[in-house]
Amino acid sequence: MSERKEYRSGVIGWPIGHSLSPVIHTHWFDQYKVAGQYNPYGVEPDQLKTAVDKLVLEGLCGWNVTVPHKEAIMPYLDKIAPMAKKLGAVNTVVVKDGQTIGFNTDITGFKKQLDQSAPRWRQEKPVLIVGAGGAARAAVAAFLTTSVPFIMVANRTRATAEKLAADIGQGRVTVVDWDDRNTAVAGAGVVVNTTSLGMAGQPPLNIDLSSAETDTVIYDIVYKPLMTDFLKQGQDLGLPIVDGLGMLVYQAAGAFKLWFDIDPEYDAGLKKRLEKEIK
Ligand code: ATR
Repeated sequence: MSERKEYRSGVIGWPIGHSLSPVIHTHWFDQYKVAGQYNPYGVEPDQLKTAVDKLVLEGLCGWNVTVPHKEAIMPYLDKIAPMAKKLGAVNTVVVKDGQTIGFNTDITGFKKQLDQSAPRWRQEKPVLIVGAGGAARAAVAAFLTTSVPFIMVANRTRATAEKLAADIGQGRVTVVDWDDRNTAVAGAGVVVNTTSLGMAGQPPLNIDLSSAETDTVIYDIVYKPLMTDFLKQGQDLGLPIVDGLGMLVYQAAGAFKLWFDIDPEYDAGLKKRLEKEIK
């Protein structure tokens, strides 16, 4: 009788806190009958290299990478996929034949949630991204794969937005002054909050969406709470809204596909389970 292999995976971060990723991956292990485990690993920044070596030695098939390691892990990996290299951030590691390869599934995760939740979003209009951190970079990279005419980025610290534009913008990113963000809403096909504002314990994002067009999509990457003030404002204006939970699930789906070659579904059961967790 052959022994059934158990795949090991997980997520590294610091602090790792209460990650939802184990809930998502465990749901799919059950659903797709994959014998696997997914564990959270708290890794302090100065222990990152040691942790990478240890996880490989322990035989993990791969792992996710979250704050604050997404950039810092890159020099410790054997190979980096082109998209992750371009973005300068890795959120998924695959171990193949003892070699570590870094990928970024945040980009496809961001895009898939938009396409699934607002399939009629208007690619012929510019988009407005609020924030210029790691999540904003993934959002910009996602829109660069579409035909939007240009991508506006408004960030409190203008210099960070300018650096983002220079690093990855391919000439298609326009930096907007923080004070002009309300004006920039007019004409945007999608307005995205990529800052941590609106998250439980944080102040809300201060933006006026009243000049949005009737089909402007309001997309928040914050998922705790699911209905942020930003999304609520969009909903009250009758605009299509897209929550951040789907991006989390679809970036996990991208990792699951890389590890197990299965395209897992974001079904109602998973949604219900996650909504219960974030309440
Ligand atoms: P992540 O990698 O999750 O995107 P980050 O790199 O820390 O996180 O980026 C956080 C983003 O939220 C930044 O764009 C930050 O703006 P600054 O570059 O000016 O710091 C934005 N942000 C955080 N707190 C903010 C606040 N109170 N007002 C406006 N923007 C804020």
